[in-house]
Amino acid sequence: MMTVAASSAAGVADPRLLGRDVRRIAFDAETLRARVRELGAEITAAYPDGDLHVLGLLKGSFVFLADLVREIRRPLYVDFVVAASYGDAMVSSGHVRLVYAPEASLEGKHILLVEDIVDSGRTLQELKSLLSARRPRSLEICALLHKRIAAQPAVPVRFVGFDAPNEFLVGYGLDHAENFRHLPYVASLKQSEAVTDR
Ligand code: IMP
Ligand code: MG
Repeated sequence: MMTVAASSAAGVADPRLLGRDVRRIAFDAETLRARVRELGAEITAAYPDGDLHVLGLLKGSFVFLADLVREIRRPLYVDFVVAASYGDAMVSSGHVRLVYAPEASLEGKHILLVEDIVDSGRTLQELKSLLSARRPRSLEICALLHKRIAAQPAVPVRFVGFDAPNEFLVGYGLDHAENFRHLPYVASLKQSEAVTDR
């Protein structure tokens, strides 16, 4: 992993950073591109037949999803899923409902749910059970990053880009208070700025 600051410390001020400092770049653009290409090949090989519906969980997956689907060399459909937490949305209670899900029938289709980062995995666990009610042929998860913090993972993630450090990460779709999604790399915020209001 690189330990280059993305801001003036490295001699390059990144105008995307709101004047704030990132602690380090955890995954630079080239590293992301190479791994996304490999994931695309893995996914292509994993689905030799059948209809494949790639569902991006909004908003965090949008950058990853856009790059990933262009590396999958087979027919597929792209759609999105929007989930909302019940109750006070600050904690990942895992109690989610679908605000938007594809209208097309998913019965008998392969569903690949694409997520930016798995932390406890509780959101995905709940989503998985909601989507399995639609009787897909298969239902797998692809996450760019996996924190692997839970001793007992809530949900199996079939395709993982990278194991992530236990730091608060932003960029390549991941946000802090809706900022930084457009960074072309994944960086960790300085501790003082990494308050956990996701
Ligand atoms: P989980 O339900 O605990 O797995 O929470 C996963 C969700 O928390 C992800 O979809 C992200 O929106 C958010 N999240 C977890 N870790 C980070 C992080 O380091 N940066 C930004 N968002 C994160
Ligand atoms: Mg988020």
